[in-house]
Amino acid sequence: MIGRLNHVAIAVPDLAAASDLYRKTLGADVSAPEALDEHGVTVVFITLPNTKIELLEPLGEGSPIARFLEKNPDGGVHHVCYEVDDIIAARDRLLDSGARVLGSGEPKIGAHGKPVLFLHPKDFNGTLIELEQA
Ligand code: CO
Repeated sequence: MIGRLNHVAIAVPDLAAASDLYRKTLGADVSAPEALDEHGVTVVFITLPNTKIELLEPLGEGSPIARFLEKNPDGGVHHVCYEVDDIIAARDRLLDSGARVLGSGEPKIGAHGKPVLFLHPKDFNGTLIELEQA
């Protein structure tokens, strides 16, 4: 069911500093920051030949990554994103198998303008999984 690895997301305390680190120290191609109010994060994407890295900084009150950064003040790997051909069919299959979908269970529009869902990390070896419609 899951397809390509779309991105690995890293939560960071300082998006400008992290962007500089990837741009200057690692020599990567880093996008301009984008504020995603509905998701409570500001993101940049780093394009690699075979996938992307998403750097996330908290945006506004109650950001979903604020607690993660309290526990991991230097930042850390936050989630991995797999592509699926049909996000509704994927969700229904997961729910049938007992996996938990976070939030309302309805896909939200993610950073690439495509529907996304998140799966409970306790159901997937302690890893938060994002599914994105391919
Ligand atoms: Co993501």
